[in-house]
Amino acid sequence: MLLSHLLISILLTLTHGDDCPIFFDPLEVVVKYGDSVSVNCSTDIPHQGLRWEGFNTEINMTEGRSSWTVDEMTDWEIQPSCVVISNETQCLQKLTITIYKTPDSVSISTGDNIMIECSTYELQCDVVNVAPVQNLTVKWYKGETLMHKETFTDPTKTPVNTTSILQITADRSDDGVQYRCEAELELGAEGPQPPPAVTSEPLNIVVYSILQFNPQRVVVRYGGSVSVNCSTNITHKGIGWEASEGPVPTNREQNLITWRVSSLREWDIKPICYINYDRTQCGSNLPITIYKTPESVSINTADHTGPMNEFSTYKLQCDVVNVAPVQNLTVKWYKGETLMHKETFTDPIKTPVNTTPILQITADRSDDGVQYRCEAELELGAEGPQPPPAVTSEPLNIVVYYKPQIYFCNHWAPKIESTLSLYPTSYYSIVANPSANISWSRGSSSLNASIFLDKYDSGEYKITASNEHGASSCIINITVEYPPGLNCNESFQIQERTLFKLPCSVDGVPEPGISLYKNGKLIPFPYSPSWNDSALYNLTASNKYGSVYHPLQINILYAPVFDPINGNIEVVADGNITLNCSSSGNPEPHMWWSFKNANISTGGRHVTINILKATSTDSGEYICSATNRFGHNSKTFSVEIKENSSPRHIFAVYILFVLIALILIILLCLYVWRKRKSSGRYQIQTDQELRSLSNR
Ligand SMILES: *[C@@H]1O[C@H](CO)[C@@H](O)[C@H](O)[C@H]1NC(C)=O
Ligand SMILES: *[C@@H]1O[C@H](CO)[C@@H](O)[C@H](O)[C@H]1NC(C)=O
Ligand SMILES: *[C@@H]1O[C@H](CO)[C@@H](O)[C@H](O)[C@H]1NC(C)=O
Ligand SMILES: *[C@@H]1O[C@H](CO)[C@@H](O)[C@H](O)[C@H]1NC(C)=O
Ligand SMILES: *[C@@H]1O[C@H](CO)[C@@H](O)[C@H](O)[C@H]1NC(C)=O
Ligand SMILES: *[C@@H]1O[C@H](CO)[C@@H](O)[C@H](O)[C@H]1NC(C)=O
Ligand SMILES: *[C@@H]1O[C@H](CO)[C@@H](O)[C@H](O)[C@H]1NC(C)=O
Ligand SMILES: *[C@@H]1O[C@H](CO)[C@@H](O)[C@H](O)[C@H]1NC(C)=O
Ligand SMILES: *[C@@H]1O[C@H](CO)[C@@H](O)[C@H](O)[C@H]1NC(C)=O
Ligand SMILES: *[C@@H]1O[C@H](CO)[C@@H](O)[C@H](O)[C@H]1NC(C)=O
Ligand SMILES: *[C@@H]1O[C@H](CO)[C@@H](O)[C@H](O)[C@H]1NC(C)=O
Ligand SMILES: *[C@@H]1O[C@H](CO)[C@@H](O)[C@H](O)[C@H]1NC(C)=O
Repeated sequence: MLLSHLLISILLTLTHGDDCPIFFDPLEVVVKYGDSVSVNCSTDIPHQGLRWEGFNTEINMTEGRSSWTVDEMTDWEIQPSCVVISNETQCLQKLTITIYKTPDSVSISTGDNIMIECSTYELQCDVVNVAPVQNLTVKWYKGETLMHKETFTDPTKTPVNTTSILQITADRSDDGVQYRCEAELELGAEGPQPPPAVTSEPLNIVVYSILQFNPQRVVVRYGGSVSVNCSTNITHKGIGWEASEGPVPTNREQNLITWRVSSLREWDIKPICYINYDRTQCGSNLPITIYKTPESVSINTADHTGPMNEFSTYKLQCDVVNVAPVQNLTVKWYKGETLMHKETFTDPIKTPVNTTPILQITADRSDDGVQYRCEAELELGAEGPQPPPAVTSEPLNIVVYYKPQIYFCNHWAPKIESTLSLYPTSYYSIVANPSANISWSRGSSSLNASIFLDKYDSGEYKITASNEHGASSCIINITVEYPPGLNCNESFQIQERTLFKLPCSVDGVPEPGISLYKNGKLIPFPYSPSWNDSALYNLTASNKYGSVYHPLQINILYAPVFDPINGNIEVVADGNITLNCSSSGNPEPHMWWSFKNANISTGGRHVTINILKATSTDSGEYICSATNRFGHNSKTFSVEIKENSSPRHIFAVYILFVLIALILIILLCLYVWRKRKSSGRYQIQTDQELRSLSNR
């Protein structure tokens, strides 16, 4: 028993490792501290058991596979292995497991973040609680530029605090920049993707220059003059300029020295102002740009000559000769006045170069007749000349050939006797280059454009515009317009109070307007004439091409109408009476008189009766009647016969009346006279009576 156990352990050591046919799924485990993990172990040999080892509870399995699962991985030091027992021997394979933890915090710090040019400083990055530190990389960034990377070899598996240090020498160009550090865990292909990383807050750096340039940067034309002051406030052991043109030797007395060149002809010049102090030397590069505007700028159509075809691609080339620095050059392409494209260059070369930027265009009909040009501009910043120097090429005229297009494809209304060639085919209605041939067809037959259109030629026509690049066509509705025409009867009859309808056929396009005049006065439509409206009317038809008129006799048919006459007649007995009755009507009415239901006279439009020596038997109602096929009408005349009364009778009555009045007055006078003889007391009474009498 003891021996066999010993034997097994010997065999175990012999067969473990690469020779042991154990497979893990997944092959390798990368797990975040606290997360769950699950791994299967299997073998392809006949065996008596598979077992997981390396932690508190072992897992035995006799089938082909053994699963190990942990819900929450909290054991930093765990080292699981899988064992297979076969033919009384066993072999073992260790599982590669990495347990990681991203840092709790990453922070960047420095002793002072106010730095002095040329001095050395340390930046510190603190990474708290990260595991495994072996897989940690600390990256240092200045702005967006990766400056440095640091890795760690410590094999500790548990979380640690670690620090990375970056040494920098303060430079004036660092003023205002941000430094930051990033802690990244590189956990291989099995680990989380992208690798987990924690970045610090940025650290703002302020750098004090001990040297000051005035101006701070220079932009100078090649061959131009330049003068820059370099000054300091610190006590020093010498200050000077180092430059391939106009160097200034070390000067111990002054705090300000000037670099001066009257004609700068060195493209690569790098002037440095330096200062000696505290046993160190600090030098600052003067930012300098030397420029040259292009000698010439020209535009051409690269490998192509002549007109362009629509939809084909062409290259326009701009030749910019002898310009520096090309990095600050912008080539702008213009189509007419529209900026089409801008091109900039990254070549850092400082000496003059020739450059030929290319613009690809797809020829379009809108390009026809357009001018392209290119402009080379040097953008040299605020210190450079203002406005930025620019050279523009001569314009390049573009000719594009394209198939015709008909824009004006509308209804067309020409005047009669126009020809199709008068159709407005101006520059705007049909565009084509070269200009288009116009042809016409109607139905399936083609037409000669110079024939005259007459009034029956309205309809749909097809216009086709063609040149060697194609053809387009469209259908046009043509309406031939012509002046009005009237075809009427000479005269016209209409019954009174019925709607007047035009007794004519009217022709003309656009449809003529019709007017009817009676004695020069316009008759408004609708028109229902009255019985007395018969007249010679004037009918006119007019449209934009003219007017025609036609005299039109209109006869109104109407029922009889009596002429106005007083119908009450008084006659003295024995007098003569003449009764006249007349009427009008169309057609002429038939008339008659009737008295006491007997017709006594008939006639045409005027009937008369005479009664001689009228007696009372002649009095009564006389009826005058008129009729035609449009109606019947009658009028009553009442005749009164008066008996004779002599004027002598009237005179006798008058005399009698006067006598009675006279007698009354005499009686009254007598009465008044008698009363006057009585006392005055009664006088008032008499007066009152008198008054009442006279009132009577
Ligand atoms: C392990 O095996 C079990 C059962 O065969 C399966 O359900 C599981 O998905 C496997 N796990 C892995 C990680 O392959
Ligand atoms: C697994 O097998 C071993 C050896 O046969 C045995 O000693 C152990 O008790 C078993 N463990 C379990 C959990 O069954
Ligand atoms: C186990 O023994 C059998 C029969 O004796 C043999 O065929 C097989 O190869 C052996 N397996 C190993 C892994 O030695
Ligand atoms: C890491 O630093 C944190 C906070 O400073 C501290 O709480 C922790 O104990 C430190 N861990 C180690 C391993 O030193
Ligand atoms: C962790 O780092 C070590 C050492 O660089 C490396 O061998 C190992 O593969 C890394 N682990 C992962 C999961 O990438
Ligand atoms: C440079 O310094 C000199 C002497 O102090 C002064 O006259 C000149 O104006 C300064 N030049 C500039 C550009 O400030
Ligand atoms: C030097 O001192 C002057 C006046 O105090 C100040 O304006 C200037 O910025 C200082 N220059 C430097 C390089 O510190
Ligand atoms: C020239 O161009 C470069 C790159 O675009 C730019 O950094 C630089 O400031 C420009 N120089 C001037 C004087 O503007
Ligand atoms: C245009 O018309 C002329 C004269 O009819 C003819 O010679 C020419 O070939 C035509 N062009 C096209 C493109 O049809
Ligand atoms: C022409 O006019 C007719 C009748 O008004 C109409 O049906 C047809 O659609 C028109 N055709 C065109 C091309 O406008
Ligand atoms: C009829 O009317 C037209 C237009 O108002 C006028 O020109 C013409 O002389 C008139 N004709 C007659 C006969 O009145
Ligand atoms: C009436 O007419 C008769 C015959 O014409 C005539 O003789 C007579 O004098 C007339 N009487 C009066 C009063 O006019």
